Amino acid sequence: MHPGLQEGFQKQMLLEFTSAYIYLAMAGYCASQGLQGMAHWLRLQWREELKHALKIFDFLLERGVAPRLMALEHPPAEWESPRKLFEQALAHEQKVSKSIHELYQKAVELQDYSAQVFLHWFVEEQVEEESQARQVLEELRLAGDAGLGLYLVDRRLGERQPED
Ligand code: FEO
Repeated sequence: MHPGLQEGFQKQMLLEFTSAYIYLAMAGYCASQGLQGMAHWLRLQWREELKHALKIFDFLLERGVAPRLMALEHPPAEWESPRKLFEQALAHEQKVSKSIHELYQKAVELQDYSAQVFLHWFVEEQVEEESQARQVLEELRLAGDAGLGLYLVDRRLGERQPED
């Protein structure tokens, strides 16, 4: 694999582990606030992000590249409100999408066809990732992010099922 593309995949793997770390911090915060449904939803999202990171880890190995694990920055420990928390989640997913698109662009420029095929899954996945965060924000906007409205959104998020 071209060194420039290797570097891109290593950084993307770090970004996926960073996402996992942020969602786990969010899950811990929500649980500490009695928002058990949100905590459940965010913990499942943490697992999803670990899967994303491991997908890249395995792809690098399959391509004969040693995965390089880099230091994680610590995420925030608290948020002003559930709405602010999900706004950050959406902004983070948008950043991840942009990074995936740039990596895809690099794979196109370097004519790395297997990297392009591999990244298709991530391009599609990001549409879902952004949409899920946007949906929660929309529910909080409609129901309110305090009192009964928040309780109802929290209950709905507690129903999320693991993907496998
Ligand atoms: Fe792996 Fe939520 O992006």
